[in-house]
Amino acid sequence: MKKYGIPTAAYEVFTDMEKALAYVKTAPMPAVVKADGLALGKGVVIAETHEEAEKSVRSMMEDKVFGESGARVVIEEFLEGPEVSILSFTDGKTVVPMVSSMDHKRALDGDKGLNTGGMGTVAPNPYYTDEIAKQCMKTIFIPTMNAMNAEGRTFRGCLYFGLMLTTRGPKVIEYNCRFGDPETQVVLPLLESDLVDIMFATRNGTLAETPVHFSDGAACCVILASGGYPAKYEKGFEITMPERMPENTQVFVAGAKLEDGKLLTNGGRVLGVTATAAKLPAAIDAAYKSVELVHFDNAFYRKDIGQRALKAYKKEA
Ligand code: GLY
Repeated sequence: MKKYGIPTAAYEVFTDMEKALAYVKTAPMPAVVKADGLALGKGVVIAETHEEAEKSVRSMMEDKVFGESGARVVIEEFLEGPEVSILSFTDGKTVVPMVSSMDHKRALDGDKGLNTGGMGTVAPNPYYTDEIAKQCMKTIFIPTMNAMNAEGRTFRGCLYFGLMLTTRGPKVIEYNCRFGDPETQVVLPLLESDLVDIMFATRNGTLAETPVHFSDGAACCVILASGGYPAKYEKGFEITMPERMPENTQVFVAGAKLEDGKLLTNGGRVLGVTATAAKLPAAIDAAYKSVELVHFDNAFYRKDIGQRALKAYKKEA
């Protein structure tokens, strides 16, 4: 991103502790201090003050609290703003963004609790206006595709842009070379074109001539997780649900397995219930009504999926 001028958090990488300490003395706070290696998701500190940043650098580089992961430390600008997930199709010549979506990453209501893979989603994302979409196409999507080509690594398929809409414009937080989970569960139900045609087009370089239409409606997906997730949780509870779910509702089974004809939980995020409707409030209501029809012991789910999006729509009105 730095090499190709794609907007992301400003950052510097250090292997020399004295240089890292000198940098954090004057870096704008808050700043993000990261051990540049695997640290079981724990090697990231958001330092509010210069003292805190200095302490984090010392604990990573001098005291090696994250072992060798702390040999290289990344000090990054702290970004703030609504997050948007944009899944896109690309054949290396054209990028076609799918309908925008909003993930809910924390385990508990009110965006509290531990980070998870995602506890629910809505689409579209109200923060992602047409104007922001145009800006992202120009400053992020096309430059990313061009950068991949320039690196000799043409990307064909589904490219996921994790964006933050900051006061200084949209910035990339992450890329994934895959669909998002549970973003896909709200994005693809709104796709009106044939997904297989689009997949062939991404492979054959004919995406520009291939129709990719999304409905004007909305979707909401609520994840049912097993008690304890994302920390310790048990497996093997029987899952029951009606043979037919209400209209415009789908159940996407994920962390489960079939054993002797019974569907048993086999993961933390067990399944997602998606509902589509003309407008978001109806999609949220329908998803929650359907969630009530699915049962397994120790199941839990967030009760506020979509509320952040509804608030954003109200602010807009
Ligand atoms: N829901 C976030 C992801 O798929 O990475």
